Amino acid sequence: MSEQVTDAEVPAWPSVVGAAPDVMQAVVFREFGDPSVLQTDEVAVPAMGAADVLIRVAAVSVGRLLDLTARAGTHPYARFQLPHILGAEHAGTVVAVGSGVDTVTVGDRVAVFPVVSCAACAACLDGCPEACPELEIMGVHRPGAYAQYTRVPAVTVHAVPDGIDPVTAAGLALAGPVAQNQLTQAGLRPGDWVLVQGAASALGSLTAALARHLGARVIGTSRCDRKRQRLLELGVAAALDPTSDDFVDQVLELTGGAGARIVIDDLGEEAIWDRSLAALATRGTAVSSGAFLGGKVGLDLLRLYSRCQQIVGVRTGNPASARRLWAEVANGFRPVIDRTFPVARAADAHRYLEASTNMGRVVLTAGSGHDWRPDR
Ligand SMILES: NC(=O)c1ccc[n+]([C@@H]2O[C@H](COP(=O)([O-])OP(=O)(O)OC[C@H]3O[C@@H](n4cnc5c(N)ncnc54)[C@H](OP(=O)(O)O)[C@@H]3O)[C@@H](O)[C@H]2O)c1
Ligand SMILES: [Zn+2]
Repeated sequence: MSEQVTDAEVPAWPSVVGAAPDVMQAVVFREFGDPSVLQTDEVAVPAMGAADVLIRVAAVSVGRLLDLTARAGTHPYARFQLPHILGAEHAGTVVAVGSGVDTVTVGDRVAVFPVVSCAACAACLDGCPEACPELEIMGVHRPGAYAQYTRVPAVTVHAVPDGIDPVTAAGLALAGPVAQNQLTQAGLRPGDWVLVQGAASALGSLTAALARHLGARVIGTSRCDRKRQRLLELGVAAALDPTSDDFVDQVLELTGGAGARIVIDDLGEEAIWDRSLAALATRGTAVSSGAFLGGKVGLDLLRLYSRCQQIVGVRTGNPASARRLWAEVANGFRPVIDRTFPVARAADAHRYLEASTNMGRVVLTAGSGHDWRPDR
């Protein structure tokens, strides 16, 4: 279950010619609202610090929570000043490095893991920076990558192996380490049955694909017949409707009565979560990294303890999961990319994602020209 970009414009990696300019094009918004608030404008190229690198952006993912809800002003924790530039998960070419950086050089093709931790608190020092109370996400707590250039800490970039295009790299940069962390925290072993709720979503499709790549038997869910068909084409063992009355019975039948050893549920929808836990095996682990459909769910504690089950919250990825993910990319792992839009059409990409028709990741591509404004 992996695939290269199909219905998509794939940009070349930007080449580095001379110094970066002082101003750049970016998609900004000055007020919260519908997608039409996203407008192309000229802004200053970010200033560099000694530990930073400057990236010429080639491709940037569109995220449901980080982008759509932030733009609408309904994000549960993002607090930022307007005007703001969205865009977390991205890939591009290094065009300048700070005086203290010796891990990457100008011209390197990199994917940016857009999460910055303090590196000094107990969680960071314990190898769990995703629990850092100072955690910041690019495009949420600081300017993002719907722009020609981003300034990012050098520790957040990963070299992209040869043969990987910028859209694929962008589709892996954040969600890849998140998916890997979910499966690592759940103790995935080859042969496990893994149930992924919302397996057509950008993150869910990646987790399902990675679980399969790592040897699991995957049950993916979608309410939509077309997406279930696509999931089967991509190699899941079974594609089910999570809202059907006999959903739990179907999972039990597929798994020989045992249930799924791992359930990934990033939706947080009460009735679906209930079925997730009813379909979880004894000694199984349920993982949540998202709750955009509400997140207030019930819990049958008697069932949980008597079946020796665990529920694990995975906020994001970390350096260890990123290293492991990129090693799997070198082994042939690829994300599911739905389609691309030119970054100047970011508003259309937001409308497309709001309609929930995507099967996998939607990515914005940056043109090589200086002027991003759509043709008028
Ligand atoms: N922690 C992290 O680092 C991280 C990173 C990325 C995403 N996330 C989380 O992962 C979740 C999915 O995000 P995404 O960007 O991958 O989503 P997405 O691509 O926009 O997909 C949306 C998903 O939601 C499902 N859905 C929509 N409305 C629904 C409803 N009323 N009932 C049941 N299912 C419904 C869709 O299922 P159908 O196929 O049935 O339409 C689809 O699977 C979100 O909660 C997000 O916050 C977390
Ligand atoms: Zn910290």
